[in-house]
Amino acid sequence: MISVVALRCEYFSNPIGIDFASPRLMWRIQSDQENVMQTAYHIIAECNSQTVWDSGKVESDQSIHISYDGSPLESRKRYTWRVKVWDNTGSESEWSASASWEIGLLNKEDWTTRWIEPEEEINPDERQPCPYLRRKFELADKEITEARAYVTSHGLYALSINGNMLDENLLTPGFTSYHKRLQYQTYDLSNQLKNGENVIGVILADGWWRGKTGGLSLKNVYGERLALLCQLHVLYSDGSEDVIISDENWKTKTGALLLSDMKDGDIYDARLEMNGWNSSGFDDSNWNPVTVVNHGYDNLVAQTGVPIHRHETFKGKLIKTPSGETVLEFPQNIAGRIRFTLQAPEGTTIKLTHGETLDKQGNFTLNNLNPGKIVSTMFNTEDLKQEIIYTFKGGAPETYETLFTFQGFRYVKIEGYPGEINPENFTAIAIYSDMRVTGDFDCSNAMLNKLHSNILWSTKGNFVDVPMDCPTRERSGYTGDGQVFARTGAFLMETASFYSKWLLDMAADQRENGIVPTVIPDPGAHVEAGMLDLTAGSVGWADAVTIIPMTVYEVFADKQILEQLYPNMKRWVDYIENRAKQTHWSSRLKPSNMAGMPEHHSYIWDSDFHFGEWSEPDKNYVIELLSSLVFPRPMVATAYYAYSCQLLADAAGILGYDEDFQYYGSLASRIKEIWTKEFLKKDGKIPPDTQAAYVRAIALDLVPADAKIAIARKLVDKVREDNYHIATGFLSTPFICHVLSDYGYLEDAYRLLLQEERPSWLYPITKGATTMWEFWDAIKEDNSIRMSSHNHYSPGSIGSWLYEVVAGIRPGSPGYKNIIIQPQPGGGLTYARASYESLYGRITSSWQIEDNIFSLDVTIPPNTRAKIHLPDGTKVIEVGSGDYQYSCDWNTR
Ligand code: BGC
Repeated sequence: MISVVALRCEYFSNPIGIDFASPRLMWRIQSDQENVMQTAYHIIAECNSQTVWDSGKVESDQSIHISYDGSPLESRKRYTWRVKVWDNTGSESEWSASASWEIGLLNKEDWTTRWIEPEEEINPDERQPCPYLRRKFELADKEITEARAYVTSHGLYALSINGNMLDENLLTPGFTSYHKRLQYQTYDLSNQLKNGENVIGVILADGWWRGKTGGLSLKNVYGERLALLCQLHVLYSDGSEDVIISDENWKTKTGALLLSDMKDGDIYDARLEMNGWNSSGFDDSNWNPVTVVNHGYDNLVAQTGVPIHRHETFKGKLIKTPSGETVLEFPQNIAGRIRFTLQAPEGTTIKLTHGETLDKQGNFTLNNLNPGKIVSTMFNTEDLKQEIIYTFKGGAPETYETLFTFQGFRYVKIEGYPGEINPENFTAIAIYSDMRVTGDFDCSNAMLNKLHSNILWSTKGNFVDVPMDCPTRERSGYTGDGQVFARTGAFLMETASFYSKWLLDMAADQRENGIVPTVIPDPGAHVEAGMLDLTAGSVGWADAVTIIPMTVYEVFADKQILEQLYPNMKRWVDYIENRAKQTHWSSRLKPSNMAGMPEHHSYIWDSDFHFGEWSEPDKNYVIELLSSLVFPRPMVATAYYAYSCQLLADAAGILGYDEDFQYYGSLASRIKEIWTKEFLKKDGKIPPDTQAAYVRAIALDLVPADAKIAIARKLVDKVREDNYHIATGFLSTPFICHVLSDYGYLEDAYRLLLQEERPSWLYPITKGATTMWEFWDAIKEDNSIRMSSHNHYSPGSIGSWLYEVVAGIRPGSPGYKNIIIQPQPGGGLTYARASYESLYGRITSSWQIEDNIFSLDVTIPPNTRAKIHLPDGTKVIEVGSGDYQYSCDWNTR
């Protein structure tokens, strides 16, 4: 009747190579009964058939994040575990099927291998071909029971064993703040090795380490040289072990991959392929030695991020553009790559260029992704290339797919192919971090469904190891973008491990003085990134350090990341507290409500660079940027000071840090009070009297409750005055519809959402968008394009409103242990259905209106409770797990 399934450790099923001292376990309960709550659990963990932890029967309803509490875990050991539970109906489950986790290399001494570098003297200003490395080794003639490889690199690596490329996980070792945290991956090679001669083959590439990164296309950000670290343990049935390490026994040579760069793409000459280079029997006598170097092991951490995998594939259609170009058009804008199979005579070179859109005339373009001559000359940047240049070896059909890069694209221009192009020979492959998709939404309005799909595709396109701004122009872990999208992102995908890994890099990259850089991993820490560095510490961006850990806590009940980031949250707020105490000279010239209360100024943050609201429609971002460099933005800065301070106090409360809870709680109240005094004017206006100004005051909880009612009124007046066109930028877009619906303006929120004229969420769909645009007007009515990425998820932060308000699924307590179901129909919708796959199981809210009857189907997973609010306002129903149906008269509303 009751069973335990889906056992996971640190969010993964049977992970190998983890380095948590007390990994956390979770499971799901299945039952055919309603109202099922777990009342107790019993966990047994074993290692080599010895019990290492027997929790005994623990009276508890906790089924997620139970920390291992047995004898200390040891490197390279595999632990199996099983669990049984009891529930409130008196049932006792069977023992679950057993699951496992395996520890990686916990201690520095476990690393016996050496770092090796394949390249001799190189000129760091010149691009280098990718080094291939090989190591031939003999294994004894005994039964091989298990083999594990622990691998990482400076640059990217692709590992192969006996000619077999192990490229399920892409772009390893991922993108982190390499000098402080370099992930290694663990491979189970038990089935790949054989007795006698074996070969490990590795290709290295520039990747994020030294390839072009960020908007400024900086090179050599983390280092100038590539390196490999590899340690292979082979266990035999007689208990003996062989260890193969990266050392002077490896050989290297460059081959067909002449260039591989994140932003430029690949140059590959198949004529230079070295057949069999990663198998035995290959003659490597003309290969070169490698150099053993000492880069140490201090920064090595086991992989905790979610590996990048290949996902959906698409076929394109062939178009001839007015200027005569041959272009493949795919149905979806993605981050990914092309795999092609083509035949051409030896020496034929083709070039594929990847872009997101066609221009006004219908020709292929990359202009939307390049800043234009003036800016690129000013900042000395090169244009984005996104090319694959491939030279055929001739003969049989040849297949190519990049190993080390990805492109943001929907259109691919093909040049140089001598024959007819058959689109069937090209496949577009989306790649992204392999998180489970947790959100599903569908309603009676096709445009809204398309919006949801576009938001999801921009999530996929930008969740490539780090949460990026866009997969094209900058590909950077912008903190602001990550922050505004965190709530929506966590509806769409199970982001806990993904964000946690990035947050640890944020913690690592936080400056001594508390400033959080604008982009994480932070290139500014390693090179003179100039511009970017100037922007570090901007509110709305740097506040990612307080906002995202709290979001992860609220959605996944993950206290661990909150605890880990708490010192960083605090350092950021302490930094602001100090900065706010300074008074900027310009404040002395401006009229202020603080006259006679100079001490109040010490709560107003009126200095330093801040992006401000950023990208409000019809604002010029260059002017915005330049003016931000000169003029302080005390209203926005102080608002986020209060917000971060409040989040810090909340975190202190959750973690039981009483003193901090008191201190930051009262500091937050004081800042809010002073913010209200200074920025909320007597006539009820908040200059500059924009939608964003009113949204912010309410959403960040800056003003007292009664003032909020009047401010919401101001907001709705503005929205109506703007004829239901969106006027917010990055920071307030996530909140605007929430504020409207929370304050009684539900229909206004729907009208704003359903607007099809520019600027609006649906306008891009009228222009054929398949992802979210950076700017509301990336393609104008007359089809002219502006400089704007077509794959920026930030405006997609409206997504949470579809789940929380339209379908009405919200957490009532952290991690959805308590659930609120409160659908709010409107906008002429006749039905909406959404589901969210919580850690406890699937939550569904599905409603329809027919013949003036509103009916609602709800699914609540075991071990949770829900409060269901019907939209006629009459009833709040409290239920436990199960499937339920309700209806009410829609006319009574
Ligand atoms: C990026 C953003 C980012 C912004 C502000 C842009 O160039 O694409 O999304 O947040 O700069 O720094």
